[in-house]
Amino acid sequence: MLSALADYLRLLRVGTALVRHDVILPGEYHGRLPLTARFAGRLLRFIGGGATGRPGKRLATALERLGPAYIKLGQFLATRPDVFGVETTTDLSHLKDKLPPFSMLEAQKALREEFNEQADILFPKLSDPIAAASLAQVHRLETRGGLRAVKILRPRVEWLIERELRAMMRAARLAERVSAESRRLEAVAFVGTVGASMRKELDLRLEAGGADELAELARRDDFFHIPAVDWDRSGRRVLTTDWVEGRPLTDPKALEQDGVNRPELATAVTRGFLTHAIRDGVFHADMHEGNMLVTPKGRLALVDFGLIGRIGQNERRFLAEILWGFIRRDYARIAEVHFEAGYVPPDRSVGDFAQALRSVGEPIHGKPASEVSMGRLLLQLLDFTHTFGMHLRPELVLLQKTMVQVEGVARAIDPNHDIWAAAEPIVKDWITANLGPVGAPKLALNTAQEVFDRLKRLPDIMDKFEANLTTPVKATPLQTGPPWWAWLVLGALASGLTVYFVS
Ligand SMILES: Nc1ncnc2c1ncn2[C@@H]1O[C@H](COP(=O)(O)OP(=O)(O)O)[C@@H](O)[C@H]1O
Ligand SMILES: [Mg+2]
Repeated sequence: MLSALADYLRLLRVGTALVRHDVILPGEYHGRLPLTARFAGRLLRFIGGGATGRPGKRLATALERLGPAYIKLGQFLATRPDVFGVETTTDLSHLKDKLPPFSMLEAQKALREEFNEQADILFPKLSDPIAAASLAQVHRLETRGGLRAVKILRPRVEWLIERELRAMMRAARLAERVSAESRRLEAVAFVGTVGASMRKELDLRLEAGGADELAELARRDDFFHIPAVDWDRSGRRVLTTDWVEGRPLTDPKALEQDGVNRPELATAVTRGFLTHAIRDGVFHADMHEGNMLVTPKGRLALVDFGLIGRIGQNERRFLAEILWGFIRRDYARIAEVHFEAGYVPPDRSVGDFAQALRSVGEPIHGKPASEVSMGRLLLQLLDFTHTFGMHLRPELVLLQKTMVQVEGVARAIDPNHDIWAAAEPIVKDWITANLGPVGAPKLALNTAQEVFDRLKRLPDIMDKFEANLTTPVKATPLQTGPPWWAWLVLGALASGLTVYFVS
């Protein structure tokens, strides 16, 4: 009972922040709302005192104020332009993930908890924090083997996040019970996904694994530098990597260093990203300027591996063929690729789809390549999801989102950057290697293997499905509704807050 009460209080705090920033039924959407909702929106704005700026920006500010779990929620929402719209997700992607650092005493305590008596030997000279965000902070460390960067999770952050997730889940269940729209949007499943993604970021061993995997792939060519993991100094709550001497791209002086050649650096960004996505199917999915450092020799280093994107063989082929199709203006081929990949249901016409693609591709061909955004083009393609009843894979959305980031960074480095010209050799090499006479049989084999793997899981899925059908649904307290006293407490608090805001 106490935990339920705590959840409702927490939700009330969230509700208050959202009302204050006018993100529940915002004025901008009034035209689309029924009369009762419009009235409720006006009332909320009156209570909240009004707010300025676009709805996405207001939401970002509200989430920043609500702390770590909500900052992470905002970052998650920012990866779904297909659900929340491009403008809102763009605004959310500018959400600031900065918090005051925690003390050195707390940092030392975390190290002792992770490494016991070894802590003092492994971390003898730890600097003050150099960066602090919602989940962790980073210190510099001198060791006999050289400089290191040590990322330490915030004290009790796992507990804090679990607490907020529990309240979010309660809100989602409640919403699904009372609103058909929430059931359609699968609010409970959505909170489940958000929770899973947050929990992943709270285990730094996973981040170490991602860093190591990308470092190994990056060594195959020379596009990015990725610092090596110091496994002896890493654990669930601590991640240690080699220190990168350089300046983040957020620092205006980063590109003024002697060794920097802007056009070459921009090309390396585009090629590095596409190589990882198309060739390896694994990519750094948080390529914002704070996570990219320019070394004095003019190389680009990546840090922060909390979010790694993965796309399967089918999606990689899809991406390569799409880009190749646009580079060569072969719309019929792009349309076929969509059908072959199973994105467009077979009862739709390939010809109609090719026509739609032409409408995306042709207007851009007269323009200078530096003005044509690859990320936006991919978004327009994914936008046809609705029109053509396509089945969109979420990992492609993450890829598209990252591509927009990458392109933004490349153009900030070199305003004349031509992403198409930079992409061409990477795409061409992959097509030749995989779809030419030598590569095609290998690709067919891989794709068949993927289909076979999925089929192997089918009996399992059927069993679970059957078990679900035969197990009677147990009524949980939530399904029988929140207890009467919760409404009483909520009512009293809501009236108190209303009086506070209005006065
Ligand atoms: N290996 C490193 N070398 C140098 N600086 C680093 C290194 N790792 C992180 N940093 C610095 O610390 C900041 C925060 O680290 P990051 O891993 O991005 O944490 P967060 O997940 O909190 O964003 C980075 O933006 C970068 O400036
Ligand atoms: Mg970062």
